[in-house]
Amino acid sequence: MALVWHTARRPSGELQDDDFALRDVPDLPLGEGEVRVRNTWLSVDPYVRGMLDDEGSYMPTMPLGSQVPGGAVGAVVESRDAGLPVGTRVLHDYGWRDSAALSAAQCRPIGPDEMPPQRFLGHLGMPGQTAYFGLLEVLEPRAGEVLFVSAAAGAVGTAVVQIARIKGLHVIASAGGSDKCALLKELGADVVIDRKAPGTMREKLAAAAPEGIDLYFDNVGGDHLDAALESARIGAKFSLCGMISGYGKGGVLELPDPMRLVVRQIRMRGFTAPEFEARRSLFEKDMLEWVLAGRMRSPETVLDGLGAMPEGLRAVLRGDNMGKLLIRL
Ligand SMILES: NC(=O)c1ccc[n+]([C@@H]2O[C@H](COP(=O)([O-])OP(=O)(O)OC[C@H]3O[C@@H](n4cnc5c(N)ncnc54)[C@H](OP(=O)(O)O)[C@@H]3O)[C@@H](O)[C@H]2O)c1
Repeated sequence: MALVWHTARRPSGELQDDDFALRDVPDLPLGEGEVRVRNTWLSVDPYVRGMLDDEGSYMPTMPLGSQVPGGAVGAVVESRDAGLPVGTRVLHDYGWRDSAALSAAQCRPIGPDEMPPQRFLGHLGMPGQTAYFGLLEVLEPRAGEVLFVSAAAGAVGTAVVQIARIKGLHVIASAGGSDKCALLKELGADVVIDRKAPGTMREKLAAAAPEGIDLYFDNVGGDHLDAALESARIGAKFSLCGMISGYGKGGVLELPDPMRLVVRQIRMRGFTAPEFEARRSLFEKDMLEWVLAGRMRSPETVLDGLGAMPEGLRAVLRGDNMGKLLIRL
């Protein structure tokens, strides 16, 4: 039997445990070219919140009663594929469960062996890929430019801050709370903004960037996006990665005074990580090099046990995590 989280009802307000149901799914015999993977680490990602609503998000809505998807790493425990023998460590998208039967094509072997496997759910995986392309390809930064990045102490944000430092940018990073701000300083941010400290985001960003910003990497939307528009220099570039301040709130997200885009000649581009899939090897090479050279620290917040998945999702939406939020099985 595999234990698998399913959607049980559409959430209303804050997520409840009953919005999900943990159910047994029988293990079917493997077909040719399939493997069974015992998951060891599961990823908790904000995009799942959007999939729970009828409106969906940048990921499609999940029908009620369906199995919740998500990144996972684990080890092959049974194999009918010569390329993936028992013991191979793999990354795949069948998380929110303790084991999965998959075709070999749905699994990506991970290495080197000395690398902790959960890194492939963070900086060496989807969040790292998001940061890499969202910063380097969407914003095309030049050394010395001023970058503002929001939700900077999270999985994507900690990668953005460190890649930006490697590329010689001046980094202004926002997060919630003094511990997170201290972490961001350690990771190389030049200036930090505590979003929970008194004052508006407009005031705080104006003080942090008196000459304005050239680049904005948006993970939050709302008042952070508004402040970035207010502080943008002529010709600034914005990379829209996500807008977590609006997740689960219902209604339409609004952008006040879009005329600022015209007046400041701002180039704004939304993106999703999969659109860069064809060039993933570029990211993997650079990121692995930076991680192995100690240039990329990967903070983690870990909860234990499959039962913690709904709480993990609530925690990431509340902002309890420093770095990548992971579930250890
Ligand atoms: N486009 C894509 O393909 C793609 C891929 C991955 C992720 N994303 C997006 O990137 C963003 C970050 O994702 P992640 O996986 O790295 O999550 P994360 O940053 O590790 O966790 C989410 C963080 O968002 C912050 N937050 C929550 N509510 C907020 C609010 N009302 N205002 C400001 N900050 C708030 C919290 O940090 P603080 O309390 O420190 O602010 C929280 O720790 C999300 O918007 C996500 O949807 C997009």
